[in-house]
Amino acid sequence: MSARAIHVFDGLEALLAAAARSFVRCAREAIAARGRFTVALSGGSTPKPLYQRLSAEPSRSEVDWNRVHIFWGDERCVPPDHVDSNYRMAREAMLDSLPIPREQIHRMEAERADREAAARDYEAALARVFGVSTEGEPPSLDLILLGMGPDGHTASLFPGTKALEETVRWVVVNRVPKFNADRLTMTKPILNRAREVLFLVAGGDKAEVLAEVLNGPADPLRLPSQSIRPQGQLVWFVERAAAAKWKESTAIS
Ligand code: 6PG
Repeated sequence: MSARAIHVFDGLEALLAAAARSFVRCAREAIAARGRFTVALSGGSTPKPLYQRLSAEPSRSEVDWNRVHIFWGDERCVPPDHVDSNYRMAREAMLDSLPIPREQIHRMEAERADREAAARDYEAALARVFGVSTEGEPPSLDLILLGMGPDGHTASLFPGTKALEETVRWVVVNRVPKFNADRLTMTKPILNRAREVLFLVAGGDKAEVLAEVLNGPADPLRLPSQSIRPQGQLVWFVERAAAAKWKESTAIS
């Protein structure tokens, strides 16, 4: 069972400052222990200012970016320069201004017509970086950043979608009816192998669902964020408005 910690912050700035410190800590520990830091970025709006913060001082000087491998937890099926692209968001907010070797930035090629091949190729890229077989256990990334939508989704694991049932593959194509679109997404098998998962949740529109995810009975098909039970640390950084309905005393273990 993963250890779980929930931290509530008064305002987004305080949350982002703490998230930057956590990212730097994870990076420094991983590089000291294993000579590199492997991290999967989340999309959405909450992490964008975090990425901007990481590309600026003091965080910029606190990480040996040359030893960092960047992955994504999910990607929209759009070109990498599309306004909806999670890659474009991270590139503009952080990657373009950091000395990370280009070959260590592992983009999900979700724009490809053959999305299944793109998913398989991403698994192969993960296997190559980690020196494992795609037929075996998923690798353990040092840190996976996740967000949570008002419907309880995380990455591109949306309520009631097929990817929630995946127990073997590491990356799949997931049809998301609410957007009438496909996404590429990491699945529970690889997400739950992470050494640390850090959720960043802000906005009062998530208060209801966050209370259900954290306090309510297990219902992971309806509340995909409940599926994230990493073998390592599970940390929630929640902004006060999003925590409005969460009751610390009744939190499920
Ligand atoms: C995406 C993200 C998605 C995001 C949530 C929360 O591709 O959009 O991976 O899972 O984390 O939708 O997004 P916000 O942080 O913008 O609320």
